[in-house]
Amino acid sequence: MVPDEVRALARKLRKELNYHNYRYYVLDDPVIADAEYDRLFRRLLELEERYPELVTPDSPTRRVGGKPLSAFEEVAHVSPMLSLDNIFDRAELREFEEKLHRYLKSDQPLTYYVEPKMDGLAVELVYEDGIFVLGATRGDGLVGENITPQLKTVRDIPLRLHEEGMDAPGQLVVRGEVYMDKEGFAQLNRRRQDAGEPLFANPRNGAAGSLRQLDPRITAERGLRFFVYAVADTDAVPCSRQSELFPWLLKLGFAVNPHVKLCHGLAEVEQRYDYLLSIREKLPYEIDGMVVKVDDFRLQKRLGNTARAPRWAVAWKFPAVQATTRIIGVDFQVGRTGAVTPVALLEPVNVEGVVVRRATLHNRDEIERKDLRIGDTVLIQRAGDVIPEVIKPVVEKRTGREKPIIFPDNCPVCGHPLVRGRGEAVIRCVNPHCPAQRLQSLIYFAGKSGVDIEGLGKKAVEQLMEEGLVRDIPDFFRLKKEDLARLDGWGEKSAENVIAALEKAKRMPLARFLGALGIRYVGEVTAQLLASYFTSLADIMAATKEDFLNVEGIGEQAAGSLVDYFSDPSTRAMINELLAEGVTILPPSRGEKVLAGRVFLFTGTLSSMGRNEAKQIVKELGGQVVSGLSNRVTDLVAGEKAGSKLKKAKERGIRILSEKEFLELVERG
Ligand code: IVH
Repeated sequence: MVPDEVRALARKLRKELNYHNYRYYVLDDPVIADAEYDRLFRRLLELEERYPELVTPDSPTRRVGGKPLSAFEEVAHVSPMLSLDNIFDRAELREFEEKLHRYLKSDQPLTYYVEPKMDGLAVELVYEDGIFVLGATRGDGLVGENITPQLKTVRDIPLRLHEEGMDAPGQLVVRGEVYMDKEGFAQLNRRRQDAGEPLFANPRNGAAGSLRQLDPRITAERGLRFFVYAVADTDAVPCSRQSELFPWLLKLGFAVNPHVKLCHGLAEVEQRYDYLLSIREKLPYEIDGMVVKVDDFRLQKRLGNTARAPRWAVAWKFPAVQATTRIIGVDFQVGRTGAVTPVALLEPVNVEGVVVRRATLHNRDEIERKDLRIGDTVLIQRAGDVIPEVIKPVVEKRTGREKPIIFPDNCPVCGHPLVRGRGEAVIRCVNPHCPAQRLQSLIYFAGKSGVDIEGLGKKAVEQLMEEGLVRDIPDFFRLKKEDLARLDGWGEKSAENVIAALEKAKRMPLARFLGALGIRYVGEVTAQLLASYFTSLADIMAATKEDFLNVEGIGEQAAGSLVDYFSDPSTRAMINELLAEGVTILPPSRGEKVLAGRVFLFTGTLSSMGRNEAKQIVKELGGQVVSGLSNRVTDLVAGEKAGSKLKKAKERGIRILSEKEFLELVERG
């Protein structure tokens, strides 16, 4: 038997957590710290672990995804999930309104609700007495698939509605779009590329692939999002227009797209189109157009639906970001770490105002998986700021004269044999003296991720290397104003500026210098860890693999790569030359944010200082402190009598620091 007070506490926690989840995900306006949320979450989880009968379908702990399903079950929709008719220009918009006027037998001015058209997947959600009980895909519009456990992992789908004073019906059926934002999509594809798995062509496919996972735990990891845009039955809700429905749904706990607008007449609709098109690339998710809906529900009723789509709404599509063109050749590019990336050379094609001539093919596996050939007509896509990519060949257009794409066995620049790492999709040139790698390393060193020398962008570095002025990093610091000023496209002023920027860059913090070297597996964070642990370049150059492995946060791969890099005589010569040119590497100083990006959790008692003091120090050094265990925690500091948190943190593979190790870490900072 569960004691009454425990039951009440669990209810209270669920309510609070659901509310904070809403503040965070739907309103983007949290009212408590993450740490506090984590603490409430842990308390509920602990109660539910002790008393499994307390678990309810709306418990926020259910969002992590339950057991895998063996198959999706079919569900009939309460009313058909319709599609939308598309229009592509202003003339078609006029025709749309003329038709509305004909159907309504009146020329009355019409008011439209205009919403971005999300490029994701339509789903239906059923709430009974305020609880989310069933979620389904659109399927064929009449029958979809039951994906309730998968949908429960989507953070902005409320598991329980905030019903108080909202007049919600006993059964509420809403419809909306599940989508993956651009950032989540890029991350997912990066992970898949690293794992040698096939990439998703666009966020929409990413969302679809993630939602139709029989194992909802996989869905949970994909960070899907949701916007509601309709109810199945407008008679069941206390609203009389679409523009009232949105605020009502928001108050119930749903996320609604904030870029919606009530438009009086077509001129305003057209303005809205221009506006949405202009912000399209800046939005964190993809939209492929906008939906124009007659605002008034009574008019919607009178207009009714065809078998396929409502008469009262239309999708005004944006120009395609996809286009077809032909692959006329393939270039193999060698990157800074030697990775060879195939790039398709295309017949130039205009995609939404930008002429595309090249598109990435990612790697050899991707070429094989998509079965691409030279001469193929292909579908390409350009989205936001990402590099255009080839999606697939148009097989029907093959003539038989297409040629296979042959991945070279040797580096196209230096001729050294290429190597494929075990379990890697990437094929590399491993010649450390390869000029292509050297050029990319120089670009990296001078660029924003490196020491950031203004005026020495990609083009300038290429030019300096072609002119033979720069071959290796120390050469930057040997540049003379006269040499630069006589180069094509340079002048006195730009030469002077670059020389001044180089002079300033000569005093560089250790972490920045290490990061700028572009050592494989050593990014900004690792460089920071190394700098705060070793504090001097000499110590790093003298370190063994074991020494590197002693640094918390540095693994086998980075340690190996560091040893290889610093034991190479040419590295040592390069560093000596730099020092001879007057470059000074500055040790990390106190006040530098050496703990930036790390999240600390304390457990047990510290003997040398109070908990608050320790927290203060972490914050001063740029770290964060939380009070509950969550996926965000990077370091657990275990004092005396550390309890269950220590055990759980170990199980999760979180870095554990003793008090002594913690003191060493912060004292170095
Ligand atoms: S309303 C009966 N509103 O577009 C009304 N649909 O091409 C049907 N979509 O299947 C949909 N954003 O997946 C509506 N703001 C929005 C939408 C939207 C995206 C999708 C939806 C639908 C498809 C129709």
